[in-house]
Amino acid sequence: MTDLNELSEKLSAIKAEIKDELVNITNSKSVYEYRKNIMDSKSGKIGSLMKEMCKIPNEMKAEYGKKVNEIKTWAQAEFEELDKKLKEAEMRVKYESEKIDVTLPAKKAKKGNLHPNTQMRNQLVDIFGSMGFDIYEGREIETDYYNFTALNIPQDHPARDMQDTFYLSPEFLLRTQTSSGQIHVMEEQKPPIKIISPGKVFRSDDDATHSPMFSQMEGLVVDKGITLCDLQGMLDVFVQKIFGEDTKTRLRPSYFPFTEPSVEVDVSCFQCHGAGCRLCKGTGWIEILGAGVVNKSVLEGCGIDSSVYSGIAFGIGIERIAMLKYGINNIKHLFESDLRVLDQIDD
Ligand code: PHE
Repeated sequence: MTDLNELSEKLSAIKAEIKDELVNITNSKSVYEYRKNIMDSKSGKIGSLMKEMCKIPNEMKAEYGKKVNEIKTWAQAEFEELDKKLKEAEMRVKYESEKIDVTLPAKKAKKGNLHPNTQMRNQLVDIFGSMGFDIYEGREIETDYYNFTALNIPQDHPARDMQDTFYLSPEFLLRTQTSSGQIHVMEEQKPPIKIISPGKVFRSDDDATHSPMFSQMEGLVVDKGITLCDLQGMLDVFVQKIFGEDTKTRLRPSYFPFTEPSVEVDVSCFQCHGAGCRLCKGTGWIEILGAGVVNKSVLEGCGIDSSVYSGIAFGIGIERIAMLKYGINNIKHLFESDLRVLDQIDD
């Protein structure tokens, strides 16, 4: 290259080429790569210009250098402008695709909840705990003595047929009722006694309302001057807390070998309030538990003087109360672990 006109023409041609090529660049990454190629000192359209300095006659060197710098500055500005434009467009696309609609309803986070049986047991424990009852942990494997004999159900007593029993051996069995705990408590503690004892019980029984394994909660109060009135008073508090303030109780005569008198406790139907509906089978009342005044012979058998002390006892079926309260019509729903059922009950 010998004259400046020639140089100017060459630089104009390079500019035109770059301008044409820039039109085809559509993203910022390509701008970066294109710029690198152009400015590359070995082969780049602009980068290589400086290499040619040695071939330029001395008197032209200064002017040559100036022109090369000019085109460099020009190209740099072009690249920056295009880069800025494309980056802005790219950010707009990104923002658009990542846009969050804050008005959308939140995704429901799935949280676990306690099993309905556990919820009901906890409620019962809270209610009776607030009335001053202690908790007694009974045992699931019992002897024939604690489950039957000490509860005034000797061998060959017809009441044994009331509860189909799983025997483990002639002596040991799976307890059929938490009442067996009454005997342990009365043997271990002196009156005043005021305990509840929730736990599993087992009977060979299986239909829509019975399961071979279910849960009961025993209640036992032994002190001077305890009567059936105390029982009803405590049960009133319990049913009103579980089924509603206006729920009433009714005691009907019944029979249990270990209580005398024995009663069956009904609650006024919390669904129809006495008018009669399917739940209460048109009677206005629903049977909820068995109870009674502790049989004197049971107290005496545990070394408690029945001329000084008296007691009341009750046995609540926890599944039964849960089924009534939560409207569950088959006890199997409480044992099948079907989340469609269990998720609905969160008290
Ligand atoms: N244990 C009796 C049952 O399982 C219920 C009960 C408990 C009755 C305490 C009276 C007193 O049927």
